[in-house]
Amino acid sequence: MKLAIVYYSQSGNTSKMAEVIANGMKTVETVEVGLFDLDKIDYNFLAESKAVIFGTPTYYANMCWQLKKWFDEPDQNCNLEGKIGGAFATANFIQGGSENAILTIINHLMPKGMLVYSGGTALGKPYVHLGPVGITEYKETHDDLAFNFGKRIAEKAKQLFPNA
Ligand SMILES: Cc1cc2nc3c(=O)[nH]c(=O)nc-3n(C[C@H](O)[C@H](O)[C@H](O)COP(=O)(O)O)c2cc1C
Repeated sequence: MKLAIVYYSQSGNTSKMAEVIANGMKTVETVEVGLFDLDKIDYNFLAESKAVIFGTPTYYANMCWQLKKWFDEPDQNCNLEGKIGGAFATANFIQGGSENAILTIINHLMPKGMLVYSGGTALGKPYVHLGPVGITEYKETHDDLAFNFGKRIAEKAKQLFPNA
């Protein structure tokens, strides 16, 4: 079963977090993870993926414009309908608006017909809530969150698409 992570990263924080999420996904049997920088997406892989997770650095308490642009250019987007969708963000400050950045991504996943999921708090600790957040100052704590988020997305994808 194919799962994809699409992210934008200028200085490497978001791409490092994407790798941790991918490692969590890979703990689930038969999962193949495609990790894609926004401008190096394999669109065939994306089309075949049962889940697509989007990552952004927080820019002025919002998703970065590069990802927003990607969402707004349907020509280059594949059909995301019916796939599991989720979001994560990195930021410099706890109060820096990363949760809003995640919500602005989720706002785009809903109209594209995705099944938005994070596991929330329903699966116990670590609580993911809206999606994992990586704050520069607390790098060591968010790896656990990111890893478990990846694992939970993969487990849910297996449950919803058992024959993929
Ligand atoms: C244009 C710009 C705006 C930013 N705005 C915020 C912000 O509002 N809140 C915050 O906590 N960090 C902000 N940051 C810091 C980045 O979100 C943070 O360093 C992020 O982890 C960078 O990710 P990257 O290394 O993947 O590019 C901003 C950085 C840039 C370049």
